[in-house]
Amino acid sequence: MKPTLFEVMRMSRICRMALVTCLGSFILVIFYFQSMLHPVMRRNTFGMDICCRKGSRSPLQELYNPTQTKRPRLQSGSDLLKITQLELSNTAILHQMRRDQVTDTCRANSVTSRKRRVLTPNDLKHLVVDEDHELIYCYVPKVACTNWKRVMMVLTGRGKYSDPMEIPANEAHVSANLKTLNQYSIPEINHRLKNYLKFLFVREPFERLVSAYRNKFTQKYNTSFHKRYGTKIVKRQRKNATQEALRKGDDVKFEEFVAYLIDPLTQREEPFNEHWQTVYSLCHPCHIHYDLIGKYETLEDDSNYVLQLAGVSSYLKFPTYAKSTKTTDEMTTEFFQNISMEHQTQLYDVYKLDFLMFNYSVPSYLKLE
Ligand SMILES: *[C@@H]1O[C@H](CO)[C@@H](O)[C@H](O)[C@H]1NC(C)=O
Ligand SMILES: *[C@@H]1O[C@H](CO)[C@@H](O)[C@H](O)[C@H]1NC(C)=O
Ligand SMILES: *[C@@H]1O[C@H](CO)[C@@H](O)[C@H](O)[C@H]1NC(C)=O
Ligand SMILES: *[C@@H]1O[C@H](CO)[C@@H](O)[C@H](O)[C@H]1NC(C)=O
Repeated sequence: MKPTLFEVMRMSRICRMALVTCLGSFILVIFYFQSMLHPVMRRNTFGMDICCRKGSRSPLQELYNPTQTKRPRLQSGSDLLKITQLELSNTAILHQMRRDQVTDTCRANSVTSRKRRVLTPNDLKHLVVDEDHELIYCYVPKVACTNWKRVMMVLTGRGKYSDPMEIPANEAHVSANLKTLNQYSIPEINHRLKNYLKFLFVREPFERLVSAYRNKFTQKYNTSFHKRYGTKIVKRQRKNATQEALRKGDDVKFEEFVAYLIDPLTQREEPFNEHWQTVYSLCHPCHIHYDLIGKYETLEDDSNYVLQLAGVSSYLKFPTYAKSTKTTDEMTTEFFQNISMEHQTQLYDVYKLDFLMFNYSVPSYLKLE
């Protein structure tokens, strides 16, 4: 196929960008233009042997330019648009809408410009890398991250594991078992951000929050959160706390937890713990262009779509979820009954960007001022 003038112009721009990137590779550059580029061209312009996937296509190519669809000969620009739209599967359209929603929210709330700083490797600790399948997964606690880490261990294990569920949960959280993006050099980071399929999984923000609260403060089996955060919350939020409660921190009420989260002092002291940190602070979706945004509400479908793009779906399925203790919408509603309108409003403000970016509507139980 002969390239059109437009494509040639675009390619020369890409070449210039690639040159600039190579020269400036000691700075961590974030590529805002990723989504505009054609994955195939992107590889060619770099002119290097990028990976080991001889004869096979990368997940990024599969996502933006699927193999299955035959491309009819195109006549004009408007035909192009019509045919491409027809060609896109419903899934592809859905994911394009999700990506657009993130982009639009970032722009509308000027998250990108307000915090217009380049990311540092320290910001990339949640991005798990699979070099063999060219995937980057930003893990968000309380959004099936244990199972996704298990799957990433199977994918990167080179045959060490075959079934994700054979990996014990605590093993999946041992950081040495998975490689994260901050462990690479700056040029290696930039290369991976550009060429790998980047994805994350999100969940209704308040359901995620209640899940974190239940998991960390209402269970007795692990006291580390009670000691580390519970004692602080009781001390700061409870009047007339008993000596025992102050010492153990094991009976934090949801109201107290919420009061702690909305207290401006909390985030001034230190960042939120990852279990209740916002997704935009953990994964930086306004700076890193995620190719695929999976949702907890459609976990199985979205996860298996990622595995399909990675070309492993014939032998690897996402573990089906059957957790009886799962936090539900009804449960979340219950927990918010006790929260004052003022605190509900302030809490919504803390998590507002996550609501907007990932298209979660204001919960019907919420009473906002
Ligand atoms: C957002 O959610 C609404 C209702 O759930 C849905 O109709 C709409 O298509 C979604 N928009 C995007 C961009 O995902
Ligand atoms: C308790 O939780 C902490 C933090 O998640 C973890 O590092 C630790 O290994 C856990 N301890 C047990 C006994 O599960
Ligand atoms: C704290 O305890 C004292 C003495 O028992 C009591 O008089 C006071 O009302 C309590 N304050 C609160 C806020 O419960
Ligand atoms: C709400 O508050 C009441 C009274 O303090 C308490 O008994 C109940 O357990 C609370 N409910 C939740 C879900 O926290």
